[in-house]
Amino acid sequence: MDHFTYRSGALHAEGVPLDAIAEAVGTPFYCYSTATLRRHFEVVRDAFAGLDALVCFALKANSNLAVVRTLGELGAGADVVSEGELRRALAAGIPAERIVFSGVGKTRRELEFAVDTGILQINVESEPELEALNEVARARGKRVRIAVRVNPDVDANTHEKITTGRKENKFGIEWTRAHAVIRRASAMPGIEVTGVAVHIGSQLTDIAPFRDAFLRVRDLVVMLRTDGVALTRIDLGGGLGIPYADETPPSPAQYAAVVRETLGDLGLKMVLEPGRLLVGNAGILVTRVIYVKEGATRTFVIVDAAMNDLMRPALYDAHHAVVTVRQPDPGVEPIHADIVGPVCETGDTFARRRPLPPVESGDLLVLRTAGAYGATMASTYNSRLLVPEVMVNNDTFSVVRARPTYEEMLAMERLPEWMEAAPKGR
Ligand code: LLP
Repeated sequence: MDHFTYRSGALHAEGVPLDAIAEAVGTPFYCYSTATLRRHFEVVRDAFAGLDALVCFALKANSNLAVVRTLGELGAGADVVSEGELRRALAAGIPAERIVFSGVGKTRRELEFAVDTGILQINVESEPELEALNEVARARGKRVRIAVRVNPDVDANTHEKITTGRKENKFGIEWTRAHAVIRRASAMPGIEVTGVAVHIGSQLTDIAPFRDAFLRVRDLVVMLRTDGVALTRIDLGGGLGIPYADETPPSPAQYAAVVRETLGDLGLKMVLEPGRLLVGNAGILVTRVIYVKEGATRTFVIVDAAMNDLMRPALYDAHHAVVTVRQPDPGVEPIHADIVGPVCETGDTFARRRPLPPVESGDLLVLRTAGAYGATMASTYNSRLLVPEVMVNNDTFSVVRARPTYEEMLAMERLPEWMEAAPKGR
């Protein structure tokens, strides 16, 4: 459920008409709904009621400070994967003791920063990383809390590019080796092993792979206990899917039921790392139709957003629902159109042969379910300005990331000293 609905013939974000924001900010822009963020967080929190679970929002899904702050104020922690994300989480006011640091390739500098910050836990994904972290911690006279991320070799049945828990994926420590690695880590002076972590992929629409992975984690925890290694925490990752089209992913309550059934009796604290589930439906991308062009075999609706602003369709053939801001008249005959951006690649296509109410130049369109992995994956390809972000709260809105100017874009670059200054352009 979200708070983007038609009122008096126009799509609103909560109480604000989207055409008013478009007028003020220009297009394209991302728009986030505070009420939707809040609702999603509460649904997840309530599903886990009674379990000692910390919801650490995966910043990679949406790292805008206002979004992170909104979730942080509701009690969320953060799952970060780089120094940049760690700094963002702190800047948004997430306390260090609610931050976990994941990722296969943390540099020594990043490990040092995390150890100095004193975060809740670092999820270690390889033996070389474990050794590096032990050295970093010892050099500082500290013991650092870690979880060992295991690779349970479970197929998540999701898009190949976002599956992470099979043995041929780069993530985690092979689950049959995990026991030995944890015992080794337990003997390291700079390391305190507090738990195991698992994350098998993103946009999962089946519950079974979660159950398989959690049961493997359970076996490992029980075996370690028998060997006298007592863990206090398990980190279950993220990955629960959301509906983009006609998928029917498990609900947070169904997911939590599987967690209770497989791991609930172990008496461990839990960390969850949902990303998409919290923010996906809380964001949309608003764009304006530039031209409607009749091609030889199809109609192209050319909009001012492009693959650089929302990469998911180009990268994963992802589906995003497209609606008009003006409420369509009931019974209107739809056109079937390819919705494309201005970038010079055929891959810059948001939808193919999509039924759509008839539109014309100047109309506003909305790509729905764009709050996760939208703005965070945007680039300036084709020297397009980075897309701005707006947050709505009831009847007000605020620009929470401004559209840069062309001067700001060019100011990052300079010519080497052996070149003559370029003639002043206009
Ligand atoms: N924890 C870890 C260790 C992860 O690698 C991820 C996502 C998450 C949590 C959050 O997963 P979520 O709850 O959002 O599924 N760009 C892709 C998705 C990449 C996901 C990468 N890892 C997309 O647009 O679909």
